[in-house]
Amino acid sequence: MSVYTLALESSCDETSAAVLKDGRLVLSNVISSQVPIHQKFGGVVPEVASRHHIEQVIPVIDKALIDAGITLNDIDHIGVTYGPGLVGALLVGVAAAKGLSFATGIPLVPVHHMEGHIFANFLANPELEPPFLSLVVSGGHTMIVHVKGYEEFHILGQTRDDAAGEAFDKIARVMGFPYPGGPHIDALAKEGNPEAIEFPKALSEEGNYEFSFSGLKSSVLNYLNSKNLKGEDINKADVAASFQKAIVDVLVEKTRHAAKALGETKITVAGGVSANKGLQVALETMCKEEGFTYYKPSGILSTDNAAMIGCRAYYMAQAGKFSDLHLNAKPNVPIGAVSWVEAE
Ligand code: KG4
Ligand code: ZN
Repeated sequence: MSVYTLALESSCDETSAAVLKDGRLVLSNVISSQVPIHQKFGGVVPEVASRHHIEQVIPVIDKALIDAGITLNDIDHIGVTYGPGLVGALLVGVAAAKGLSFATGIPLVPVHHMEGHIFANFLANPELEPPFLSLVVSGGHTMIVHVKGYEEFHILGQTRDDAAGEAFDKIARVMGFPYPGGPHIDALAKEGNPEAIEFPKALSEEGNYEFSFSGLKSSVLNYLNSKNLKGEDINKADVAASFQKAIVDVLVEKTRHAAKALGETKITVAGGVSANKGLQVALETMCKEEGFTYYKPSGILSTDNAAMIGCRAYYMAQAGKFSDLHLNAKPNVPIGAVSWVEAE
């Protein structure tokens, strides 16, 4: 008999609901984005995000069920993002999922947002199975994760300061682009020379899988300020291309070395920054050089969406990882934390 998952995602500025069949077949994936609302503030305003999640959550769930052609009666479990993210935003999805679970008796599965991003790869690549290495790059996180099995994650290293997406957004902002800036830098970088300016690459010694992007950010800001003070022209395309190269080189080289050190030959990428064309090309090239197989989520599966949460929820449900109704939003929870009710 088929297993149907209903999933909810509301950790940041997308309200999303999805229905999956047997964990990997997406029957619906409805996303209500608040990007245009937050754009005028230059970033996500948490209180505004919470209010819009409240308005959107029920219509989005209704649409996901209608698009999938099923009703709540057909659903076997409800997966919901409980962290990490903005606490007020997370609470809306968690409260909605708990309400549905309480009213219907459908079991609740508490999903970690970043584990969801990694599992987007299973939706985009039906043949993919663990173990593999995952480069996780989003607006809030940057890390290399060894996915040893569906329930076994080992973080090799993460960022000490800014996440890669955060660095993209901050630099884009000072260059005059609207939020989120990553895609704008990506587009502009295609027209520039990535070798034009040498920006620093922190912690690049072999065997170090941690990241740091705050020095790079300061260096780009200093470069722009000093050009402005001297009244010199700035070639924005060259700045975008050189900045992007500095980030991409670090991400790709650390992934290469981690995979070689572990003897892992399957590489996946996850999170919003995985949409970056420069990163995709560089990862693909590195994987060809090393004889690795490269997997990536595409389109809406790379940024925040509920289908990826549903895929993670399906495997957790298979492993018996359910939550009771005491589930709460956790803004800072690490990957692999125990979020389910453990058997006595
Ligand atoms: O995973 P995501 O949708 O949300 C978080 O969980 O953070 O990632 C959003 C981040 C933003 O920082 C955005 O600028 C970045 O992903 N991003 C990109 C691109 N598309 C989205 N960064 C660089 N190049 C892109 N094409
Ligand atoms: Zn995300």
